[in-house]
Amino acid sequence: MHKDTNIAHLSANEAEAELIRLSSVLYRANHAYHNADAPILSDAKYDQLKQRNLSVETAFPGLKRANSPSDQIGAAPADGFSKLRHAQRMLSLGNAFTNEDVTEFDLRIRRYLGLSEQDNLTYTAEPKIDGLSLSLRYEHGMLIQAATRGDGQTGENVTENAHTIADIPKQLSNAPEILEVRGEVYMAQLDFDALNQSQTAKGDKVFANPRNAAAGSLRQLDSEITRRRPLRFFAYAWGDLSTPLAETQNGAIERLVNLGFSTNPLTRLCDGPKAMIRHYRQIEQQRANLGYDIDGIVFKVNSHALQQQLGFVSRAPRWAIAHKFPAQEEITELLDVEFQVGRTGAV
Ligand code: IVH
Repeated sequence: MHKDTNIAHLSANEAEAELIRLSSVLYRANHAYHNADAPILSDAKYDQLKQRNLSVETAFPGLKRANSPSDQIGAAPADGFSKLRHAQRMLSLGNAFTNEDVTEFDLRIRRYLGLSEQDNLTYTAEPKIDGLSLSLRYEHGMLIQAATRGDGQTGENVTENAHTIADIPKQLSNAPEILEVRGEVYMAQLDFDALNQSQTAKGDKVFANPRNAAAGSLRQLDSEITRRRPLRFFAYAWGDLSTPLAETQNGAIERLVNLGFSTNPLTRLCDGPKAMIRHYRQIEQQRANLGYDIDGIVFKVNSHALQQQLGFVSRAPRWAIAHKFPAQEEITELLDVEFQVGRTGAV
């Protein structure tokens, strides 16, 4: 069977074989991306295979595998790090690739909440930072734990490393007694270029892109190496909380700013799919000049009460979606090189 065979033409046996193939490719790609910080597939190819896996499962629901890639988040924590169990799971996001997907997202939410198209419904639009997510736990205002997402349930303990990142406050005033702040560790493009130059000069590993450099720098067993790497952090979400931060996503982001966190300055409120799509286009135009990589816009229902009503499906919230930008880079596998000798003997 050709790997791009139209799903509608698959027999049940072929569909089963295709799900096995996809889960194996996606498992290897996940491990390379999350544990080795060295991707083997481009993000676009990965999304495409994940989407194909989901489409085969939708066409053949009975064949969905117990450990389907659709239900997986990231990868299990790597050896070498101690493990931390998240008090609240760190989730992933569903993807939108087209304007129609965004309109459909809004309609789905309205249907679920019993709202008409005329009812007001506000969303936040936040850049989707291309780094790696980190959960920071504060107790009585002190940073006591930092964990990577890992498989969503259990992450890697990178507490000492997080203490070396300037953007991450180590102590908070007027914070809830228990507060888990979640966000993205990333590397600015200029810092990434400088790091790779110095790695090359030392004969050390160079990184494929700023995301890999950020992940490889945070996931160091020696925190002194992390300290020398130019890592940054944007806060955008939270986990365990003793008292709510605010009644809305936007309000919670403002509260995080007041507590001393960096949040993304391009966060906006949108009053429906038209405004969401317009904002997506505007940020897409600015994307190349931001100085750091983003791979889409995340839309979230602004009201926390509505978020709670909407809840979650499998690994992602119903109330949020990531509208992805088209791929900027592709990783291509060089399969073969043919040398030809010309008439003059030149190769
Ligand atoms: S919200 C429950 N907001 O995207 C929702 N995620 O594909 C949790 N990401 O694991 C995530 N920027 O690593 C959210 N503004 C943003 C984000 C963001 C980047 C990452 C994050 C997450 C992944 C989901």
